[in-house]
Amino acid sequence: MPTPLLRMPPRLPLIAPSILSADFAHLGDDCRHALSCGADLLHLDVMDGHFVPNLTMGPALCASLHAAMPSVYLDVHLMVNDPAKFVEPFARAGASNLTFHVEAVAPEQVAPLIDRIRGLGLEAGLAINPPTPVERILPFVGLPDMLLVMSVNPGFSGQSFIASTLEKTQTLANLVRKDQRIQMDGGVGPGNASMVREAGCDCIVSASALFGRTRDERASVIAALRG
Ligand code: DX5
Ligand code: ZN
Repeated sequence: MPTPLLRMPPRLPLIAPSILSADFAHLGDDCRHALSCGADLLHLDVMDGHFVPNLTMGPALCASLHAAMPSVYLDVHLMVNDPAKFVEPFARAGASNLTFHVEAVAPEQVAPLIDRIRGLGLEAGLAINPPTPVERILPFVGLPDMLLVMSVNPGFSGQSFIASTLEKTQTLANLVRKDQRIQMDGGVGPGNASMVREAGCDCIVSASALFGRTRDERASVIAALRG
C-alpha cells in the first residue's frame, strides 16, 4: 500500500475550516488567511444535490487548491449518493482524505471502499448523520482514520448545533484508537466548542463561525475553537 501523500497534522485538537462559508470570489486568499490564523487543514464540502439538497464543489476546485497550496491537508467530505464514483477523481485532484457517509453505501461496501481510498494513498473517513443511530457505524469503528459525527443535517452552513449528537461522539471516543480522529461538523463555534472537545472530538470543523467573522477576528475564533 502506498504511503499517504499527507497525514493529518499531529497537533490536537485540529481546527478544520469548512470553505463552504468562504468568499468564493477570493477563495485562495481566504484559505491562506485561515491557515495563517492557525487552522490546521481545509475541509471541502462536496454535495451532489441528491444525498443533500445543495450543490457545491467538485474535483476541479480541489485540484486548484492543491496546486496553489501543495503542502496543505485537504479533507474532502463527500455528501453524495455514490461516493465510490468520486474516489479516483479526488485522488487525482490531490485530496488528502476522503470521508463518505455510512448512509450512502451498503454495509458490505464500507470496508472495501475504505480500502480503495487507502490503496490510493489517501486517508479515509466515515461519517454519520444526526438521525442515524450510532449502532449503524459501530461495526466499522476500527476501520477508518477518522469518524465524522455530523452535528447538523448536512447540506448547508450556518445551521444550529444539534446537542444530542454529543452522545454519539462520546460513545465513539471510548472506542477509537489513539491514531484515529473524531471530527464534528455543523454548528460549532466558540460558544460550544468546549462541549465538543469534552465529548472527545479532536478535529473541529467550522464554516460560518469562522468565515462569518471579519479577517481580523479569525485568529481569535480559531484559538477559541482549539481551547
Ligand atoms: C454541512 C457541512 C459543514 C458545514 C458546516 O453540511 O458538512 O461542513 O459547512 O458549516 P457551519 O460550521 O456553518 O455549521
Ligand atoms: Zn462538512
